[in-house]
Amino acid sequence: MKSLKEMFIGEVVAEAVRRAPEGRAPRVMDLGCGSASYLPSLFNKYPDIEYVGVEPIKASYDKAAAVVEDLPNAQIHYQLGYDSVPNEVEGSFDLVFSLSVLEHVKHLDKFIALSAKYVKSGGMMVHRYDLGHALHSHSLKEKLHVIMGNHIPQVLPERQFVRYVGVPEVEKCYTNNGVKKTKVTYHQMPNHKAFEKIVGSIEPVEELFAWEMEFQTDIDQLPVKEKETLFPAVAVWGEKV
Ligand SMILES: C[S@@+](CC[C@H](N)C(=O)[O-])C[C@H]1O[C@@H](n2cnc3c(N)ncnc32)[C@H](O)[C@@H]1O
Repeated sequence: MKSLKEMFIGEVVAEAVRRAPEGRAPRVMDLGCGSASYLPSLFNKYPDIEYVGVEPIKASYDKAAAVVEDLPNAQIHYQLGYDSVPNEVEGSFDLVFSLSVLEHVKHLDKFIALSAKYVKSGGMMVHRYDLGHALHSHSLKEKLHVIMGNHIPQVLPERQFVRYVGVPEVEKCYTNNGVKKTKVTYHQMPNHKAFEKIVGSIEPVEELFAWEMEFQTDIDQLPVKEKETLFPAVAVWGEKV
């Protein structure tokens, strides 16, 4: 079944397709792709895109590598999103994105600098991240990790890292790396996510996603605390200047 997150990345890639020069499929880079579970449905819709994923956890990398085995235009690299990606030319990607990663990144400035480096001039950079760990921690251990990530980040290892990330901080990293923030969108009400998990049909989830996108202007008017609590997945969209 297609999830709200899959629909989101479908929407982002659709925009990259619209913006790519006619007849050329976009090149997209996904930093922290995990097991790349959303790739089959993405390639189903956009079979011509060129995809490069990066993942530093071996077990997730292995799963992602298995997913891309049958996809001729896709490859995965086993590495952190701080280091140059082998054989890829800087400024050659139409879209660089991450999903549910920024809140786990220990060196946000380095991570965003790397993503900006690979976006071509006029190309898109979109990082969507989750505040759920910080705002609705599901265990005492997670709560403790968030407190450490927020206040004493140096003590947490890269693999256990999690913290609250605010839009102004992300925006500052964009600006420092020549990317202009174009919009911020808010997603995934906790109840919608729970509903998505139990509902058997794709249609209601598509309607929820369409609703989310349609009311972004209204959502944006809410005070920061309210919109982050109601919509704990935040996407910062940008364009390389
Ligand atoms: C919650 S998972 C999300 C995976 C996938 N993007 C998704 O949405 O299903 C977070 C991922 O970020 C990766 N990650 C964390 N820190 C990273 C870093 N510094 N560079 C690259 N990836 C990182 C983790 O290995 C993990 O796979």
